[in-house]
Amino acid sequence: MPDDARPLRLDQILSRYGYCSRSEARQWLRSGRVTVDGTPIRDPSHRAAPARVRIDGEGVEHPGGILALYHKPAGLVCSHDPGEGPSIYDRLPARWLQRNPPVHSVGRLDKDATGLLLLTDSGELIHRWTSPRHHVAKVYEVTVDRDLNPDWIPRFAAGTLILDGEDVPCLPARLEILGPREARLELTEGRYHQVKRMFASQGAHVIRLHRTRFGTHELGDLPSGDWRVLPPSSIDGSTITAPE
Ligand code: URA
Repeated sequence: MPDDARPLRLDQILSRYGYCSRSEARQWLRSGRVTVDGTPIRDPSHRAAPARVRIDGEGVEHPGGILALYHKPAGLVCSHDPGEGPSIYDRLPARWLQRNPPVHSVGRLDKDATGLLLLTDSGELIHRWTSPRHHVAKVYEVTVDRDLNPDWIPRFAAGTLILDGEDVPCLPARLEILGPREARLELTEGRYHQVKRMFASQGAHVIRLHRTRFGTHELGDLPSGDWRVLPPSSIDGSTITAPE
C-alpha cells in the first residue's frame, strides 16, 4: 500500500500513481506541471511526500492507496486478457490501471454474475482476502432452475459436501431459502465456480448469481456499474474477517 507521507522522487510519483511513464515525467516536470507545496519543481530526482505534490493543480489521486466497492454488471469478465471479452477493467479509470501496482479485483465473479467486487492496488490486501486461511465471508443471492429443497440446508451446513473432481469437503455454508427458487448462500471460502457447483451437486442449475457482501463490506444501494472509493482508513484489512 502506498504511503502518502514517505518522500519519493517526483518522477517516481508520476509513474507510480499512473500519470505517465518515468521518462515522460521529465517533460511534465520541465513544463512546470508539478508543484510541491505550491512551488513548481523541475528536477525529477527531487523527493517529496505524495500528499504535498500537485499535478496540473490537482492533488495526487488516492496517494494512500485505493480500496473501492464496485457493482459488477453482468456480461463483463474480471480479466485483463482481451481475448476473454468485455472486461471490468475497460470500465475503470485508465489511471487506476496505470498505477504501479495497478488496481485489481479481489478475487473474481463469473461473466454472468453481478454484484459486489472489491478493487484495490494493494497486493497485500488481495492476498489476505483471497487466502483460504482467512475465511472471508461472502454472501450470494441465487436463483435456480428448480424448486429448492430444505434438505440442502443441513447438507450445505455439514461441512461434508464434496464437489465434483475434488476430495476436500467444502467448509460449512449457510443456506437460507427466500422463495421457491431463490436463496441466500453464505460461504467462507472461494473455490472455482463454487456456488454454481454446490447447487449443481444437488441437481440445480444457477440462473442468477448476485453477490451482496464481501467480508464486512455490503453492496448496499450502489448502482450497477458504479464504484465507490472507501476512505483511506478502511484500507486496514483487519476489519474484513469475522472473528474466528
Ligand atoms: N461462485 C460461482 O459459481 N461464481 C461466482 O462468480 C462466484 C462464486
